[in-house]
Amino acid sequence: MIRYLKREKIFILNGKNVTYALSVNKAGFLQNVYFGKKTSKNKVTEIAVNADDKLPSAEDKNFDMEFDAMPSEYAFYGRGDYNEPTAVFERRDGCLFSRFRYKAHKLKKALPELGVMPCVRGDGETLTVTLKDDFSDMEINLNYSVFNDSDIIVRNAEIKNCGTGAVKLRKAFSFCLQMDSDEYELMRFYGRWAKERTPETTGIGHGITKIQSIRGTSSHQLNPFVILKQKRCNEQKGKCFGFQLVYSGSFSLCAELSGNDKLRVYGGVSDSFFSWNLNGGETFITPQVLIACSYRGLGALSSEYHDFLRNRIIDPAFVYKKRPIVLNNWEATYFDFDDKKICEIIDAAADLGVDTFVLDDGWFGNRNTDTAGLGDWYVNENKLNGGLDGVIERCKERGLSFGLWFEPEMVSEDSDFYRKHPDYIVGKNGIRPAMGRTQYVLDFTRKEVVDCIFQTISGILSRYEISYVKWDMNRSLSEYYSESLVPDRQGEFFHRYTLGVYDLAKRLTSRFKNVLFEGCASGGGRFDAGMLYYFPQIWTSDNTDAADRARIQYGTSFGYPISAMSCHVSVCPNHQTGRTTPFETRGNIASLGPTGYELDPTVLTEEEKSATKKQIMAYKSVSQLISEGDFYRICDPFRDKVFCVCAVSKDKTSCYIVYTSLTENGKERQIKIPYLKEDGRYIIRGTKLSFTGKELKRVGITVGNLKKYYSAAFVLTEL
Ligand code: DGJ
Repeated sequence: MIRYLKREKIFILNGKNVTYALSVNKAGFLQNVYFGKKTSKNKVTEIAVNADDKLPSAEDKNFDMEFDAMPSEYAFYGRGDYNEPTAVFERRDGCLFSRFRYKAHKLKKALPELGVMPCVRGDGETLTVTLKDDFSDMEINLNYSVFNDSDIIVRNAEIKNCGTGAVKLRKAFSFCLQMDSDEYELMRFYGRWAKERTPETTGIGHGITKIQSIRGTSSHQLNPFVILKQKRCNEQKGKCFGFQLVYSGSFSLCAELSGNDKLRVYGGVSDSFFSWNLNGGETFITPQVLIACSYRGLGALSSEYHDFLRNRIIDPAFVYKKRPIVLNNWEATYFDFDDKKICEIIDAAADLGVDTFVLDDGWFGNRNTDTAGLGDWYVNENKLNGGLDGVIERCKERGLSFGLWFEPEMVSEDSDFYRKHPDYIVGKNGIRPAMGRTQYVLDFTRKEVVDCIFQTISGILSRYEISYVKWDMNRSLSEYYSESLVPDRQGEFFHRYTLGVYDLAKRLTSRFKNVLFEGCASGGGRFDAGMLYYFPQIWTSDNTDAADRARIQYGTSFGYPISAMSCHVSVCPNHQTGRTTPFETRGNIASLGPTGYELDPTVLTEEEKSATKKQIMAYKSVSQLISEGDFYRICDPFRDKVFCVCAVSKDKTSCYIVYTSLTENGKERQIKIPYLKEDGRYIIRGTKLSFTGKELKRVGITVGNLKKYYSAAFVLTEL
């Protein structure tokens, strides 16, 4: 609920358990008053009045130099606020400074719509505050949406040139929020290929800590999600805040601790190498940020994000729909297959109980290695005699659906597509662009390039019965330049590229509504809320080694629901790490998300086949908990060398627990599960063992043994 206290000029935004309050202070600036546990109107008013008392009066000659410590909701530049500004624009005379003050506001019982840019769905209330620059015709609309059923506040900014002459945006962040404290630590999720979203927590020193990607993707290296936590905050207790961008391109998220110990958090589209020409009458729309607050530790913060992404970001047509159990041929064959081999795989997969066969890279053009063929989206009949028709026919005969791999944003130099359209790639004429995985990036800032790829992929999806698409993206961008942009607009390249990706995703997903799209970027290089808006699930990592994957899935779970993390069982020794883990362990880790197999089912031993059949049956019995339940982290796999998590049904009547030792010789442990009904009695499915919720909370269950990478998965059901 949003209230406006007219006399005090205070806006009070109430979510489920939180209050976010802002006010127009006596000097006309929009400032934060409060963000935290739900509180009363009187408390908010008292804070606002106190803050106002500290401000200089507008008559004071030094008035303009006093805004450094003001908890600005959107910091301006060059007029007494010496923190990083939230937006900067250059006028035609080169002038950069601004001073934004309140002009008007609107309350709406609806959410903002952002064109192709992903944005929060459903119902909600939105406050839009319009700020106006004292020295130019620029205006900024700040949108704030709140929800009765969530502790997440959604913010973004729309920067509008209300004049007639063009201005150049140099920075256009989505939000700024100041906290009156230096008591926080910063958690970010860093990594690289095959090691995505590793949690790292550090203190916040004075100055600016910048978490960013300038790769054109949200990246393996740093995820567009950070958590600020009190030092003593743990999974179950303590105060923390989350900031998650609904954005898939180059981004910045910054924490700035000033000399007077005020902490500001701000971010959005990366300001590194960014600019945007805004003609008179034009508006620049920034991505949304999901800001969460929890007083019940990191577990509750994650749950807020999980519910929010499931209920308000991911396509409702898919989010709670049963996901197919997939057999993907990538690690089974890489590029080395023919129709005979694929049909054998399909037959074997069908015998195991798999739902969908996904034909990965290598089915098209001259694609026999990763050096050729990208862009030639027509079937390689030398490899697949009988074409896709034959493969799909075989799937149908065996009761499987069919899925297909694409890498829409890329082209190989050795391809018919590139020979025909050498001008369609990112880069500058006369300079050979850098190759990544022997491929170039298509210039998705250009409409005709996106149109051309849309036509091609649509053609295939219309012609064949395809129920699943894996959209891959296997290199970072480079030579950030588009021949189609005038020199003065090259700073727009990154964001325009991302808009092009969204445009294609939007057109394909709205035309092929029944197709389940899985996002992928060399594994989990673009695992973000922006992609999840279009793709209900994302391939979490190319690293399918159970021990590493456990850590990757653990890190990813801080911000994203497990129902979005695509997880497969693969063979051992693992292709990425060389490690051998038990088949059961691999199955248990892969059961924590939309699951499948990334192996050759024709060479499984009889024992493995029967284990796979059992895994699939077991998975089906917990899949609803995976897609709809509350997920909790019980052990920290980095600290404890044990991975233990659980998914609890919303009514707390059942709970799925996965425990895995990450060492060569583990030991027994007491696993406490404090998330069930204390007065309930729970039985471990398939046994006679039962415990009360209180016992599970206080004493726990004994799990584990000495075996290398031992794993156990079990279901507790209320009697
Ligand atoms: C990277 C993906 O993450 C893999 O799963 C696979 O699809 C390869 N690309 C194919 O080139």
